Amino acid sequence: MADLLEEQRESWGTRGGFILAAVGSAVGLGNLWGFPYKLYSYGGGAFLIPYILGLAVVGFPLLILEFSLGHYTQRAAPDAFKHGHKKFEMVGWWGIVLGFVIITYYPVILAYCFSFLWYSIQGIIGNGDLPWAGEGLEGVDKAKSFFFDNYLGYTEGTSLGAIRWNIVLPLLIAWVCMYFCIFKGVNLVGKIVWLTVPLPWLMLLILTIRGLTLEGSMQGLAYYLDPTWSELAKPETWRYAFGQVFFSLSLAFGVMITYSSFLHRKSDINNNALIITISDFATSFIAGLAVFATLGAMAFVTQQEGNAVGVENVAQTGPSLAFVAFPYALAQLPYSAWFSLVFFFTLITLGIDSAFSITESVLASIVDKTGWPRAIVLPVISLIGIGFGFIYITEGGLNWLGIVDGFVNGTRGIMFLGLMEAIVLGWLWRLSILRRHANSRSDWNLGRWWDFAIRLVIPIILGTLFFWQLFEDINNEEGFLRSPDGKWNAPNCVGVGILIAAPLISFIFSFIKSKHNDNTTAATTDDLPVKGRFIGLVSFLVAVVTSVFFIISMKSENSSINLAGFSALAIGGIAATVLSMYVLEKYDSGNCRTSWFARWAGIFGIMEISAFFARFLYEKSAAVTNAEAETVRSHELTGVSYAILVVVFLIIIGGLGWCFYRAIAAASKDEAEQHPDEVGDEPKELKW
Ligand code: PHE
Repeated sequence: MADLLEEQRESWGTRGGFILAAVGSAVGLGNLWGFPYKLYSYGGGAFLIPYILGLAVVGFPLLILEFSLGHYTQRAAPDAFKHGHKKFEMVGWWGIVLGFVIITYYPVILAYCFSFLWYSIQGIIGNGDLPWAGEGLEGVDKAKSFFFDNYLGYTEGTSLGAIRWNIVLPLLIAWVCMYFCIFKGVNLVGKIVWLTVPLPWLMLLILTIRGLTLEGSMQGLAYYLDPTWSELAKPETWRYAFGQVFFSLSLAFGVMITYSSFLHRKSDINNNALIITISDFATSFIAGLAVFATLGAMAFVTQQEGNAVGVENVAQTGPSLAFVAFPYALAQLPYSAWFSLVFFFTLITLGIDSAFSITESVLASIVDKTGWPRAIVLPVISLIGIGFGFIYITEGGLNWLGIVDGFVNGTRGIMFLGLMEAIVLGWLWRLSILRRHANSRSDWNLGRWWDFAIRLVIPIILGTLFFWQLFEDINNEEGFLRSPDGKWNAPNCVGVGILIAAPLISFIFSFIKSKHNDNTTAATTDDLPVKGRFIGLVSFLVAVVTSVFFIISMKSENSSINLAGFSALAIGGIAATVLSMYVLEKYDSGNCRTSWFARWAGIFGIMEISAFFARFLYEKSAAVTNAEAETVRSHELTGVSYAILVVVFLIIIGGLGWCFYRAIAAASKDEAEQHPDEVGDEPKELKW
């Protein structure tokens, strides 16, 4: 281990450089068009409950996990996992492969932004008119038609159609920008992000203040914030909230592991993670204020003109929000071309550092494994990325973009990988090593709660969401992969194909031997005595027997046998988890090895508990979805919405204030006391 730590590795210039780079990765297109419309569509202010809960319980602890793993091993994701055990390397590659899928389409959206930026510039140079400008509901249609027909040449359905040559140049521009940001390594990235992070914040602030000061903006905020509590009973609300947490914090793609591997040895981990989490949330929330205030103002203007267009007429999902609704709204307001320019420039600066963070992570993983020069690997990755990008700049490309994004960034894709990560690092590693590592250099210490979050809470939440989705897919009446009349469902087949290909490719990658990374061998504890074998074996048997009983009982027609099997699942799961937690708590930081039976019993137990919850929720949610009626939104901001605004700002300002206070307090303490001696700072008995 010591040689690993001593090895020279390039590093971020400053703590600020790292924080900004990580924030730059986290804060991206997902914040400006993902978060606001998800919040609007899934319960308004009520959506904040699953979202903030997801950030606090899953996002933040996982971010610390990724930071400490990257920082401890000083390796990009695959080699970082490999450090624990040879077999874990594949988990690292898995995220890299999924990340690679994202960089095939993320720059395509940046390409749209470049085009619309160009149209705005033309508007400014010309007579101030934007090409999509129009009035009333016909105007909305015009804006729609401008984006979908004129620009995308969009066709529905699953065929790709011809390539849209008008998007090729913007796509190349996006890739060239990304290329030049990272070709020199992270030191340069650490400087570039001083521009690409504050700049969109500044512009967002301009858009927000302007939006809020326009007449009618409160009407938009009412749409954005007024809670529809009944949405909380729907499974999609929770899935979208948690999916958004993963995507927005760039979790499980290996990006944060890679970024922290370049972090200075003495740098803080815990406080940085909290600062990044809160900043990401703040950006999303404020972006939503900017978008909806502007939409509200638009609605006001059109009402005055007797050509009313309501917020509900334009507020749509994903690309329509950024390329139809918002541009249309701006066109109704003064200085439209200028604000349109600001908006698309904001999107570009928001997205570019997220896009290159993934490229950097793919790049660093390959370079770490093979030792090949960056100067060759980066152009190759870029060319392959552009090549795949052509799929999405076809007439049917946007459909496929949505399909691939839905699979990769959903419960079946990245959240499942997050589950793997928590299980591998929580149950098969020595988690205490990572916690000690993080605490020994951070402004404040993580408590034991973190172990419980990684081992129990996160796997159970993600496992439940995964099984819940699985039950729905299996019981899908229209047939998930193939309809009852025998027709294949192409989008789902491709989606599932990608999700199955990812672990397979990762598996193959992890087998490729390279001379370069032979020194990244797994730490071994082979010579230590094994402890907890008896209890481990008992809990393992409990888990297996109850699972088998459950599966058999499901086949029975008798409902009391079903119920018995279902109860056995819960009881067996809890028993196995509690017993193996006990073993791990007792022995895992000692000078011994913990029995593998106990580790696997814990994993089994957690899966049982998750399956139990999922089954329960699946049956409940089927009832809720059927009974659900449409809710009508008010046009006035209610007292509850004001309360939500106040609480959110208190969380943001209070949270960031606390982080900075702790950082300053820690910095003023004696340096030596703060950061114990670097090399070999792990107590001997903690080694693998
Ligand atoms: N977090 C980025 C966003 O919100 C997207 C991203 C995902 C970046 C995964 C890196 C890795 O847009």
